[in-house]
Amino acid sequence: MSSEAGEWWRSAVIYQVYLRSFADGNGDGVGDIAGLRSRLGYVRDLGVDAIWINPWYPSPMADAGYDVIDQRDIDPAYGTLAEAEALIAEAHDHGLRVILDVVPNHTSELRAWFQEALVGGPGSRARDRYHFRNGRGEHGELPPNNWTSEFGGLAWTRVTEPDGEPGQWYLHLFSPQQPDLNWDHPDVRADFEHTLRFWFDRGVDGFRIDVAHYLIKDDLLPDLQQARYASGEHPHWDREALHDIYRSWRRIADSYDPPRVFVAEAWVESPQRLVRYVRSDELHTAFNFDFLASPWLPGAMKDMIDATLDAHASVAAPSTWVLSNHDVARHVSRYARPQREGIERFLDDFLDRPADLAVGTRRARAAILQMLALPGCAYVYMGEELGLPEVEDLADDVLLDPMFQRSGMISRGRDGCRVPLPWSGHSAPFGFSPGPVRTWLPQPDDWGIYSVARQTDDASSMLELYRTALRMRRLLPALGDGCLQWLSMPEGALGFAREPGFLCVVNYSAAPVVLPDDAVILLASDEFDPGAGVPADTTVWLDVGGPPGR
Ligand code: NOJ
Repeated sequence: MSSEAGEWWRSAVIYQVYLRSFADGNGDGVGDIAGLRSRLGYVRDLGVDAIWINPWYPSPMADAGYDVIDQRDIDPAYGTLAEAEALIAEAHDHGLRVILDVVPNHTSELRAWFQEALVGGPGSRARDRYHFRNGRGEHGELPPNNWTSEFGGLAWTRVTEPDGEPGQWYLHLFSPQQPDLNWDHPDVRADFEHTLRFWFDRGVDGFRIDVAHYLIKDDLLPDLQQARYASGEHPHWDREALHDIYRSWRRIADSYDPPRVFVAEAWVESPQRLVRYVRSDELHTAFNFDFLASPWLPGAMKDMIDATLDAHASVAAPSTWVLSNHDVARHVSRYARPQREGIERFLDDFLDRPADLAVGTRRARAAILQMLALPGCAYVYMGEELGLPEVEDLADDVLLDPMFQRSGMISRGRDGCRVPLPWSGHSAPFGFSPGPVRTWLPQPDDWGIYSVARQTDDASSMLELYRTALRMRRLLPALGDGCLQWLSMPEGALGFAREPGFLCVVNYSAAPVVLPDDAVILLASDEFDPGAGVPADTTVWLDVGGPPGR
């Protein structure tokens, strides 16, 4: 493979398949491998380079598969290992690379290791693979420290010992069904290396690393202080020792031909901290969540893009860009609200403001053209190409995200961005399942307006905009990896040039933006009269005389 092909991840567009909600092959209302295999042609024709599949491993699904029993097998709800192998081969036949999710911070409570630890009792070697501690207080009735879970509540659960008495506590930074692993234990390191090789040997092209910034904890498990920690000093967040793990993983990835790749899910405090994960001997890329969380405001966007590009240039790694994923409210619905400075990503962050979905959709169209023109690699979360909004009115009794229960039913959680995709037809399950069935999360009654069938060949649809933009991105030599130069623009608009001969203009404001005389419009996020200037919430790609497309 040429070095350019070998570095495919620098310019790739990667499509995130949330398997439970993509397509159901066996008719039980849950997406599965058979469904994905039957729709690979759709993904290929969208014009992406790779798919990233959320965890498909055996799991009791306390956290939708991020509670893994065995990372080297497939959950029966999704299919079999043989089907997974067939899928990998078929994706490759379609020219799509395959990225899986690895979940190294925690396991399911049902993993054999954790069950052995429960049975083994205090002081047993099996407990060393996790973080078990005696409680505080006279009878050990208080948790070992004051850490809280990401999903709400304590980060500790007390176990009942084999003698029937209340005993030690174990750490879980997520739900109690997801005990945190002890990364100082050699078994843990060896087991994950085994997992990486297991899938790399089956042709998998890379891994997305779940909460890559969490694995290492301060041995003393000290209470969290109110005061801000200096970088790298937080007891369980973004600690220095993580980087040795990722260096060793990089050596494994590099030992394959072609080399395999990683993308880190790391929510850290700044782009400078983020790019420490993508130094040349560590991971390849990391999700740029600052972009995802940025409001649709030109000043905030430009500052964030600059900070991202500067930081990544310092380590010669490509930036990534992402607008939505399975953990955040869909961006049509975020952008449908009056925008305000600051970080917003969960449904709870903006439910207090009225939504105008027409505005959100228009901004989402502008946002995808802006994103695909930025230097680096981009992620598309399944369904965003259909313009799906967040489902904001799921009834309490269908919500499955542990965030909902753990927050005392205050947070609405993340189910609203995980509703099964509409493929065709006028009533549920909208072609998601082969026959009539209740899907694992209910689809809204009007979901048919977003279906793939309905949007296909409708030149004004979101789907056709994605298809056109992705096709053009491949053909335009200016796009993908590289750099940009900002153009001087009127207030409320952003513009940047990419060589050769490409401009991107984004108008966030109500005042129309006049285009340069010599520019030829390649693509616009919505129709407009060029003589009248680029209207509000519109992005335009322009040809200003580069060489013919490759
Ligand atoms: C991040 C995943 O994206 C999210 O869905 C999950 O709940 C947590 N990590 C815990 O694994």
